Amino acid sequence: MAAPTIERIGEHLFVNADCIRGAAAHLADGSVDLIVTDPPYGIEGDRLDRHYNRDERFVDDGYVEVDARKYASFSRAWIAQAERVLKPGGQLYVVSGYTNLYDVLGALRKTNLREINHIIWKYNFGVYTSSKFVSSHYHILYYAKPGSRRRFNLQSRFALDETAADGRSLNYRDREDVWSINREYKPGQRKNKNELPKALLKKILAYSSKEGELVCDFFLGGGSTAAVAIGMNRRFVGFEISEPTFRSRVPDLRKIVPGSLLEAEPDPHVVRNRGKSWSAAELEQLEGRFRELDASGATRSAIVATLSAELERGAWAIRKRLRSAGTKKV
Ligand SMILES: C[S@@+](CC[C@H](N)C(=O)[O-])C[C@H]1O[C@@H](n2cnc3c(N)ncnc32)[C@H](O)[C@@H]1O
Repeated sequence: MAAPTIERIGEHLFVNADCIRGAAAHLADGSVDLIVTDPPYGIEGDRLDRHYNRDERFVDDGYVEVDARKYASFSRAWIAQAERVLKPGGQLYVVSGYTNLYDVLGALRKTNLREINHIIWKYNFGVYTSSKFVSSHYHILYYAKPGSRRRFNLQSRFALDETAADGRSLNYRDREDVWSINREYKPGQRKNKNELPKALLKKILAYSSKEGELVCDFFLGGGSTAAVAIGMNRRFVGFEISEPTFRSRVPDLRKIVPGSLLEAEPDPHVVRNRGKSWSAAELEQLEGRFRELDASGATRSAIVATLSAELERGAWAIRKRLRSAGTKKV
């Protein structure tokens, strides 16, 4: 058998091979921090055009599907490799449709990986149905390898005390396990049959990795996980079995500027006084500042955010105190 094509872009590695053999050959035990991957769904992904309402001229040829009858053994084989290569505390996110979800969950449960969340990703795009409900979600199975502390960057996207206009916590809302993220509309651009939106990948990488860590995708496709990983200054390794897909998509990844997707981190407002009892001076400050801010016409959420920053306490504690002090506005 001919040796697989390997492309290196800086410190990132791309292998044109079956991920099961590729991981065995190129990845040492316990070497990867985070795997984010989207395997073929075993539903004739090579004929997804029958389901989606889009112009297929721009969709890459060469998508390799897995025979539905072999889906369970295929899932067990690649997930066993994923478990092997993860570091203790390393994490795995698998995107799955519902048709063969049973096999993916079965394979995960045969490992020692621990379930962290079962996330529902709700998306928008045209799947034709007229005699049943419209399918508009995927499953994201979030697992971790036991043996060390798992990274979860709690305030990577929103500080704990950031609130929306309706006063609800942005951090809490962002961490609910139903994610509503639209697919990217890319008219006239090349795409894989089933490309993941960058917003979804940025969210996963922001919570579950840090700069310099090694991110891996077993099923590269159009390379969106790679593009986001490089854009967020992570190291990357990935596999794609299809030669046409590999040849058409990997060269584009050279154009990604490392770090270009990193945004200014929110100021992770450290809630230094969380859980401490309130002193008389603090209560006086709370009520005095509340009256001033209220008189200035500030909204309820702006008042709470300001008091939370000034007193270094969470928004919930501020609201509770204000209520017990009898202020009507919160
Ligand atoms: C659902 S797509 C991945 C899409 C990708 N996440 C993206 O955003 O573009 C699955 C990809 O896995 C590839 N594939 C199928 N079997 C494979 C295998 N055994 N090893 C590596 N890649 C494989 C397919 O050719 C296809 O490109």
